[in-house]
Amino acid sequence: MSTNSTQNERVVSGMRPTGRLHLGHYHGVIKNWVEMQLNYECFFFVADWHALTTHYEDPSRTPDHVEEMVIDWLAAGISPSSATIFLQSMVPEHAELHLLLSMITPLGWLERVPTYKDQQEKLREKDLATYGFLGYPLLQSADILMYKADFVPVGEDQISHIELTREVARRFNYLYGREPDFEKRAEEAVAKMGKKNAKAYRNYRKAYQEQGDSEALTVAQALLNSQQNISLGDKERLFGYLEGISKIILPEPQARLTPASKMPGLDGQKMSKSYGNTIALREEPDDVVQKLRKMPTDPARVRRTDPGDPAKCPVWQLHEVYSNDSTKEWVIEGCKSAGIGCLDCKQPVIDGVLAELAPMRARGLEFEKDRQLVRDIITDGSEAARNVARETLDDVVEAMRFSR
Ligand code: TRP
Ligand code: SF4
Repeated sequence: MSTNSTQNERVVSGMRPTGRLHLGHYHGVIKNWVEMQLNYECFFFVADWHALTTHYEDPSRTPDHVEEMVIDWLAAGISPSSATIFLQSMVPEHAELHLLLSMITPLGWLERVPTYKDQQEKLREKDLATYGFLGYPLLQSADILMYKADFVPVGEDQISHIELTREVARRFNYLYGREPDFEKRAEEAVAKMGKKNAKAYRNYRKAYQEQGDSEALTVAQALLNSQQNISLGDKERLFGYLEGISKIILPEPQARLTPASKMPGLDGQKMSKSYGNTIALREEPDDVVQKLRKMPTDPARVRRTDPGDPAKCPVWQLHEVYSNDSTKEWVIEGCKSAGIGCLDCKQPVIDGVLAELAPMRARGLEFEKDRQLVRDIITDGSEAARNVARETLDDVVEAMRFSR
């Protein structure tokens, strides 16, 4: 167990319920989550409402998909004692925050998110000219801001959603992060610093706000940090006053780009359910072996005696994931000289995949046998998430001067 100082930094990430996960998900996303849960306070959730934005016509399979996916998470090593695992729709506060954020989000910001038009094009057979679909990234913003996340591990395709989230947070803080008599209180706090410091602070603030002088901002922040005689509340006011905001209610999260998964599918294309080239995390070992044995190889190797070229072979890409240098040398040498057969060549990969999947399968079987436990994990996690969510919503509602 790591005793990192980042333990109190928050990570939030979600996944739409697609049902069973495969090795592409594992190498692309889940392995990363498993590592992060040791070093951060993590919230991992199933985004079932997001699934509804594109699959509203037939949501009937969603509950199954949710359960199967959470079993895969648990099988892969996500642990309810290290991370909060929950279901989005069991934390209805997400809907409330989404609604409130929708009031301040300009339509153009949503229309300009690149995934909006892209996905509509891609999923032409579906009518995605809906209100819910346009709001997809804003619902995601609510998911993230709800937990005041520091980091959001996402793939490249989601960067624009994090960017939107940051803009919405900034706008929210700008609009509502203000005490009623903020300016007056801030000015009083400036005066408390003493003549000389007050003058310096005003000059730096002016330089930053009028000329965008970021060095002045840094110097002014250092000046504030060194003040001994003003209260914490006043200090916070002065930090906010510097930047033109008074109080940060929804902090801006940062994207943590997940490196693109190098996990190829059985045909050498990216592993994806839609290509039918996957190995599931809880796949039967016999099926894993069969699938790998049947994998296509360099088409030039028609006969065992024909030499081949690993660069033209999808099996080689699997060696890149699973094999050490000496095995890789053995492959290159043996393939190019026809010294080894393709089945020989596949064996280390087969062994590597089986070894990787074995503990996941074992853990998965335990959870398959005890589905009530899985449901309890989801319910308990959702309850825990809800407690955090309620706190944020209280802050939000208070800042908007709503009473509930
Ligand atoms: N849109 C994300 C995806 O398709 C899923 C998601 C929903 C998400 N809410 C989120 C990811 C919040 C990170 C944070 O992958
Ligand atoms: Fe591919 Fe290995 Fe056969 Fe060469 S020997 S074609 S790398 S499976």
